[in-house]
Amino acid sequence: MRGRSERYLEEMGLAPVWKLRGPKRARGIRDPEKKSGESRPAAPVALKPAPPRRAAEILPPVPGLVGAARLDLADDRAARILRMDWPALKTAVAACQACGLRKTCTQTVFGVGDEQADWLLVGEAPGAEEDARGEPFVGQAGRLLDNMLAAIGLARGENVYICNVLKCRPPGNRNPDPFEVAQCTPHLLRQLELIRPKLILAMGRFAVQALLNTEASIASLRGRLHRYQGVPLIVTYHPAYLLRSLPDKAKAWEDLCFARRSIAAL
Ligand code: URA
Repeated sequence: MRGRSERYLEEMGLAPVWKLRGPKRARGIRDPEKKSGESRPAAPVALKPAPPRRAAEILPPVPGLVGAARLDLADDRAARILRMDWPALKTAVAACQACGLRKTCTQTVFGVGDEQADWLLVGEAPGAEEDARGEPFVGQAGRLLDNMLAAIGLARGENVYICNVLKCRPPGNRNPDPFEVAQCTPHLLRQLELIRPKLILAMGRFAVQALLNTEASIASLRGRLHRYQGVPLIVTYHPAYLLRSLPDKAKAWEDLCFARRSIAAL
């Protein structure tokens, strides 16, 4: 009989290319086949070993908070946000009118999960279902994300925090504009500082642009360990894009396996 992990991979369009095996248990990884508290005998690894990484492939740490995320700390608002605790930050996001998006969305979508998670996943902006439910990644892309997480033994809320660059839905799911990103980025950065994750997974170009301050393509950035404020950061495709691009699903799976290996090695 097929195990649950195999079904996840199949649903993701990855079976039978990838198999779950290997003895190591990475810290904070939950076995999708087991009830909580049980140990796990095997962990998923890619069948094809990842190519060895040359030192030159590892990017130097990106510049600090201000440089990386194009924050202007002379801007009082950003400086204030970067000093907030969780309750103040949640209140500030809920009340934020800094860009026009709050006028057209139903509610803000702050983020969800373990506020002391090792894993921080960053997407783009809420879509229609997220806007209606107030939680990130609960639509079709979110189901794919949940399945991908489950395939590496993770689940939302369990050592994982998920949020977006923007906390409000852009109308008609249009791309965020630079002003909106600039206004919302301090919220994301404060979330990041409060969580202090072991690893950030930046999903899609808006998350990458906000955190790494680069216009480089996802394809050119993935497969390497970047850093944001010293925190290891891995770049991968956005789940909504993966729904439309089957070949890149396998690449995203490689990225997740790379992320899992990286966090286990920390
Ligand atoms: N896409 C995103 O980037 N975030 C969500 O929460 C949902 C879809």
